[in-house]
Amino acid sequence: LGLITILEACTSQKYINNYVLNNNTLTVRKSEFTAVNKKTPTELPFVMLKPEQSPFPIALYKDGDSNYNALFMQCTHQGCELNPYELMIVCPCHGAEFNTKGEVTQGPAEINLKSFITTHDHENIYIQLS
Ligand code: FES
Repeated sequence: LGLITILEACTSQKYINNYVLNNNTLTVRKSEFTAVNKKTPTELPFVMLKPEQSPFPIALYKDGDSNYNALFMQCTHQGCELNPYELMIVCPCHGAEFNTKGEVTQGPAEINLKSFITTHDHENIYIQLS
């Protein structure tokens, strides 16, 4: 619990409402990863999306300069909604942990998170929902 409290204090989640859903593809502008804090632009490690038809949010993580990981925030153990942080994803129900690629790093979950295929160009990230 102490670790989770510290993690929560360190990372806030930014939910994006400014996305386009077209033919099951979510389009997110790369500029959404830039937050302006006290007039200083900061790059966020991840942003959150909650499409209307999706029962759980999607965490979109930046993975280096050239890759993005779009992860479904439902635990693969017994289905709880996950808490994403900068460096890891934690299940509040039984303590499973995943890295920001969605791979299990601590049980009781045994299956990696559901992820979505992403592509990007110079301006946008495209998430294939199915
Ligand atoms: Fe996530 Fe059990 S539901 S660890």
